[in-house]
Amino acid sequence: MTESSEYCIETLDLNLWYGSFQALKHINARIRRGRITSLIGPSGCGKTTLLRCFNRVNERYGNVRTTGDVRVLGQNLYDPQVSLVELRKAVGLVFQRPNPLPISIYENVVFGLRIHRDRSELKRARLDQAVEEALRSVDLWDSLKDRLRDRATGLQLEQQQKLCIARLLPLKPEVILMDEPCSALDTDATRGVEELMVSLAGRYALVVVTHNMAQARRVSDECIFMLMGELVEHSRTEDLFVNPKDPRTAEYIEGRYG
Ligand SMILES: Nc1ncnc2c1ncn2[C@@H]1O[C@H](COP(=O)(O)OP(=O)(O)OP(=O)(O)O)[C@@H](O)[C@H]1O
Ligand SMILES: [Mg+2]
Repeated sequence: MTESSEYCIETLDLNLWYGSFQALKHINARIRRGRITSLIGPSGCGKTTLLRCFNRVNERYGNVRTTGDVRVLGQNLYDPQVSLVELRKAVGLVFQRPNPLPISIYENVVFGLRIHRDRSELKRARLDQAVEEALRSVDLWDSLKDRLRDRATGLQLEQQQKLCIARLLPLKPEVILMDEPCSALDTDATRGVEELMVSLAGRYALVVVTHNMAQARRVSDECIFMLMGELVEHSRTEDLFVNPKDPRTAEYIEGRYG
């Protein structure tokens, strides 16, 4: 999947219903390539729902209906020609709680390559190289290189979350979606993962849902503020925090609700 636009994701009048409840209303959002974009807003405003639209994970949940377009890397996700397998390689997802598989560190990193079964990718040397590259990218190589056969679930939480990011990388994604990736982590571990996000920007676009406004401010280039299923404001981070355009954004960042 390749496309030359400066945006990797665009939604056009996107609406989503869970049964009769409308959770997303007329969302027009454009996510820039190679940048970090935070989705912020009070609980229940639709951050997770919007994030899940970007790789069609919502459809796993019953009674979801959408209208409008989601374009990822230039392709309309609801086009029947679009391969979900290719899509999910291009758009990786990281969850709130680190969820490494209960297998070795090494096997976690190569799991995606094994699933996608491209033979040329499965030679031992190629796998070893993929593991080293991915772990170096998330700054885990030096600490884990001598224990690659250990179980991933025995790692500290910060390492587990970094590993969950590392295992996306061999599939060469363009976008990494993260839903509150630090909410299970303490302050030090959060700092470690935030530093990692910043170091991955440029190579990948990161879309990060966060409740933590200080985090949004520290890590992201752009912020999208949502309220009750609507996209209220999308601005450069500095502008959104210093000079919000919409009074509802101002109230939220001043902590008046949410
Ligand atoms: N599977 C579902 N079925 C029905 N309603 C749902 C479902 N998932 C979410 N909702 C509702 O849709 C709305 C948006 O939910 P969503 O999880 O996207 O919000 P959020 O902004 O991520 O909230 P939080 O900050 O608490 O994670 C909420 O009112 C929620 O109750
Ligand atoms: Mg959520």
